[in-house]
Amino acid sequence: MEEIRIISDGKVLSNVYSGTGLAGIVKYLAGYRKVFIICDAAVVRYGSLIQDAAKAAGINVVDLQSVTISETDKSIYTVLGICEWLMGHNADRNDMLLSVGGGITTDMGGFAACIFKRGIHFAYVPTTLLSQVDAAIGGKTGVNFGDYKNMLGIIRQPDFTYECQEVLTTLPRRDFNSGAAEMLKTFIIEDNGWYEKAVTLLSSLNSATKRQDLLKSLKEEVQELIAAAASVKAGVVSRDQFESGERRKLNLGHTFAHAIESEAFKREMDITHGEAVAMGIIMAAQLSEKLGLAKDLSDRMTEEFIACGLPTAAPFALTDLAEAMGKDKKAEGEVVHFILPVRVGEVVEKDLRVEEVVELLKDVK
Ligand SMILES: NC(=O)c1ccc[n+]([C@@H]2O[C@H](COP(=O)([O-])OP(=O)(O)OC[C@H]3O[C@@H](n4cnc5c(N)ncnc54)[C@H](O)[C@@H]3O)[C@@H](O)[C@H]2O)c1
Repeated sequence: MEEIRIISDGKVLSNVYSGTGLAGIVKYLAGYRKVFIICDAAVVRYGSLIQDAAKAAGINVVDLQSVTISETDKSIYTVLGICEWLMGHNADRNDMLLSVGGGITTDMGGFAACIFKRGIHFAYVPTTLLSQVDAAIGGKTGVNFGDYKNMLGIIRQPDFTYECQEVLTTLPRRDFNSGAAEMLKTFIIEDNGWYEKAVTLLSSLNSATKRQDLLKSLKEEVQELIAAAASVKAGVVSRDQFESGERRKLNLGHTFAHAIESEAFKREMDITHGEAVAMGIIMAAQLSEKLGLAKDLSDRMTEEFIACGLPTAAPFALTDLAEAMGKDKKAEGEVVHFILPVRVGEVVEKDLRVEEVVELLKDVK
């Protein structure tokens, strides 16, 4: 993978490195006084592998802290627990907090590092497809609060993100597909021929009976798609780190998705972030068609998303989602900034009131 960087005002803020094998991260950990590792409890083997390799290289690594992962655990309380652990080991601003796991782990680890002593060094090893193409790049950190997704958070770039594709072989199909949704979203925003390639590869992986074997044999193709998606995201973030304009594009499908997730959260239903994003993109395409901005897009995308193993219809009435849409972070006063697809490779921003959206989509099947 080419080196991908987040650059702002000519300054490199963050690097996305890629390597074969987790031990390859060690060279990027040298130079910090102490390294603290938090790791999703489900992938402790990856955290331990990094810890062992770092210790063998003479790096001062504090014992690994594992965290339980769920959207309910993605809370200020878990973050406070991480801060207590850092405080107990006298962490300071010369130290590094490395988060190993999917988007929940990296969002929480990043947030803890940003608030502890007003900010210590931090970096990520994303272990899900979703976090490799999206969550671990761009500097958004945070936790859920009061039934709403990512309500508390800070934007700050990690020192680096280290991507290692091999970790994806243990990822369950559903979580892999969840990442597929963010990858497809990225290529709907900026295509360069990647969208078609992604649909072909992701649908063959979804239908494969021996998916892990296929994943291994398609290693280079998967790597190429991850790098392309990561690169699109890094480019957008470099041009608009704090989401005052272009970065909003990355929210394609997300106003609907966050409302779906909030509703699922309230009803204790299990819908992953990527699944909600897939449903949200289809709703955005339907809205785009209703506004005359797109033609025949939602049916095509529905077919392609289904082939990639993604759900495309929200299990809630639109009126139930309305309140959460108004509370979305993309809402300003009365209007919400909706990102709508015009075609694959082009999206536009439309400021709409939630009631208008509910009215426009009320007859959509
Ligand atoms: N910061 C951002 O810009 C950004 C962008 C998109 C999503 N997000 C956030 O990311 C979260 C979703 O991320 P996610 O899909 O990575 O979820 P996740 O962190 O919950 O991981 C999904 C599941 O996979 C397991 N897992 C992780 N890596 C594994 C591996 N290699 N092998 C086996 N199991 C593994 C986890 O334990 C979990 O059960 C959401 O909370 C969302 O809000 C943040």
